Amino acid sequence: MTRYATIIGTGSFLPEKTLTNRDLERMVDTSDEWIVSRTGIRERRLAEEDQGTSDLAYRAAERALACAGLEPADIDLLIVGTSSPDYLFPSTACITQSKLGLTCPAYDVNAACSGFIYALQAGTAAIESGRHETVLVIGADALTRHIDFTDRATCVLFGDGAGAVILKAAEEPGVMAIELGADGTGGDLLKIPAGGSAAPCTEERVRNRENFVQMNGNEVYKFAVRMIPKATVSVLEATGNSVADLAWLVPHQANKRILDTIEERLGIAKERVYSNVENTGNTSAGSIPLALDDLYTSGRLQPGDLIALVGFGAGLTWGAATIRWTMTVPDKGDH
Ligand code: ACO
Repeated sequence: MTRYATIIGTGSFLPEKTLTNRDLERMVDTSDEWIVSRTGIRERRLAEEDQGTSDLAYRAAERALACAGLEPADIDLLIVGTSSPDYLFPSTACITQSKLGLTCPAYDVNAACSGFIYALQAGTAAIESGRHETVLVIGADALTRHIDFTDRATCVLFGDGAGAVILKAAEEPGVMAIELGADGTGGDLLKIPAGGSAAPCTEERVRNRENFVQMNGNEVYKFAVRMIPKATVSVLEATGNSVADLAWLVPHQANKRILDTIEERLGIAKERVYSNVENTGNTSAGSIPLALDDLYTSGRLQPGDLIALVGFGAGLTWGAATIRWTMTVPDKGDH
């Protein structure tokens, strides 16, 4: 019998500290009006000084475990999508594994904002192959640690957060199809130039602020509005479905203007495209599972609903998934 992976639990976590557009007005030459009209973002959350990405991942995972009614010992693989790890090593997955009291294998996947979809593919494949039974997949980033809060072009866009799902082996999908893509020739469009082996953080590089995110916003925008509709249509077609069959499209929450454009290009009603970017900013790998958990816990996902997840990010990378939702609507107070 064919083995599939299905989602049996979701969880998410946003740190408490809030940075509003008004706060940013006091830090750089910007305005609430500019930020809202160009991005749709009003506020974002920042990790506390003593919170690393693993702390956000851990809190989201705890909630996903509770949602699925599982004990940590039930998990036999942990995968964390992140591009802002606690350290170069050990991996954020290993640190999260220890915080959760797990004993299973654990590893990170770095595909920037596409990190959750990449990790979801790895978790799904691990189950479909028969090697694993119950996989915890987390998308988590504290990218504001790598943001230059004197650069108005990038500091208004990002926030910190994490989301998690638990995948379990099942006779029916669940996860019906996943398609990933990468184009390394676009690597310079969005990068942190210094801090890796190619360009360690020397005094000069830090002085030039090369240890922070640098982005060609216009080119990334064009890439996103070209690739998201294409990836969405393709992953739906792989399952014999089309945009008209979707209950929800859950895109990476980078920018409301990008979402408006893809709605137009896909011909999908606004009401079926989930967005929480207004209150989160771009939480990178955390964004899609955070949005999914919001949708589920607010009672807007029914068993049998067809949904598509779609992400894009640095690399350049992109990825999309078609999922048949199998979890029942949560009782109020369940989550
Ligand atoms: N406040 C006020 N003015 C600003 C700000 C700001 N925060 N930022 C830029 N400007 C100015 C610019 O300096 C420019 O001024 P000029 O015309 O005098 O030169 C003007 O606004 C227009 O700048 P543009 O960059 O052309 O603005 P645009 O409308 O393209 O919006 C934005 C910029 C929002 C960054 C857009 O390009 C975008 O959303 N790009 C995609 C970014 C993205 O999604 N990145 C995440 C990828 S996922 C990952 O892997 C991390």
